[in-house]
Amino acid sequence: MTADLTSEPNEAQRAARALYRRARLSSLLGRRSEALALCREAVDRADYSRAYTLLSRLSLPGEDYFRVLARIHRYLRPRTYLEIGVSRGDSLACVLPTTQVLGIDPEPKLAAAPPANVRIYRETSDDFFARYAPRAELGGQPVELAFIDGMHHFEYALRDFINVERACSRSSVILMHDCYPLDERTAQREQVTGFWSGDIWRLMLLLRERRPDLVVRTIATAPTGLGIVLNPDPSSHLLTDRLDELIAAYLARDFSVLAAAKPEALGLLENRWPVIRELIDSRIRD
Ligand SMILES: C[S@@+](CC[C@H](N)C(=O)[O-])C[C@H]1O[C@@H](n2cnc3c(N)ncnc32)[C@H](O)[C@@H]1O
Repeated sequence: MTADLTSEPNEAQRAARALYRRARLSSLLGRRSEALALCREAVDRADYSRAYTLLSRLSLPGEDYFRVLARIHRYLRPRTYLEIGVSRGDSLACVLPTTQVLGIDPEPKLAAAPPANVRIYRETSDDFFARYAPRAELGGQPVELAFIDGMHHFEYALRDFINVERACSRSSVILMHDCYPLDERTAQREQVTGFWSGDIWRLMLLLRERRPDLVVRTIATAPTGLGIVLNPDPSSHLLTDRLDELIAAYLARDFSVLAAAKPEALGLLENRWPVIRELIDSRIRD
C-alpha cells in the first residue's frame, strides 16, 4: 500500500501527484467543483492520501470531527463518557475535567498517563462488555455521551452499538466515527488505501432502516462523517434478538446502494453548529 508516494513513484503515482497539485491550486482559487473532479481523478489513478484528504475537506466542509466532538462535550457537559478506540488520545483530549470517562482500546498509544477522571481499559470492546457493566464502572450512572471508534468492521461496530445503548438513558447521545465513506475503495472491509473508513456505513444503513425509533444522522464533517444517534432505548432487544440475521443481511449490501443517494441513505446533516445543536436539543429528555 502506498499512501504518500515518498519513494520511487511509478507512472500512475506521478500522475496522481500532478492531479493533486492541480486540485490544490483550483481549491486555493476557489474553483471547488474543478478541484473535486481533479481529486477524484487523482485517487482513481493511485492511492494518494493527500488527494483523499483534500477530497474530504472539499466534500465535507466546516469544522473537522475533533472540533465538532469538542463542541458537543462543551454543550452537553456530560457527567459520563465512554469511548471505544482511544489510540493516541486525540478524541479523548476533547473531554471536560468534570466528566467521568471510560476509554477502551486493546492497544492504547497514550503518550502520558491519563488524568484522574479517565480510566483506560486495555482490551477489546467485546471483552470489556463481557467483563464489566459500564453503569457499575460509572458509580451507577448511565453513559451520557459515547463515541464508537474502535474496530472499523460493521459487525464489531454493531455489537459496540448494542452494548453502548444498553448502558445509556433515553437522553444519551451516541456518536460513531467514519460513517460517510468518500468512495468504494475507502469503504471496503479490508484496508487497501491509506485513507480508510471501513464499512461502518452498513451500521448507519441498518440503524436508519431497522430502528425507526432512533434518530440516526451523519454530521457532514471531515474526514469521513460523524454518526449521531439520539433517543437510545436501553430496553430494546430488536438488534440482539436478530443479530446473526442482521449481520448477514447487511454484509450482503453492496456499496452501490449508496451510489444513487448517499446523503439521503446515510442521513447527512449539514456541518454547522446551530444545525447540530438543534438536532441534539430535539432528543428525548429523561
Ligand atoms: C481510529 S483509532 C481511534 C482514534 C481515536 N478515537 C481518535 O479519534 O483520536 C482506532 C482504535 O481502535 C482500536 N481498536 C481496534 N480494535 C478494537 C476493538 N475490538 N475494541 C476496541 N478498540 C479497538 C485500535 O487499537 C485503535 O487504537
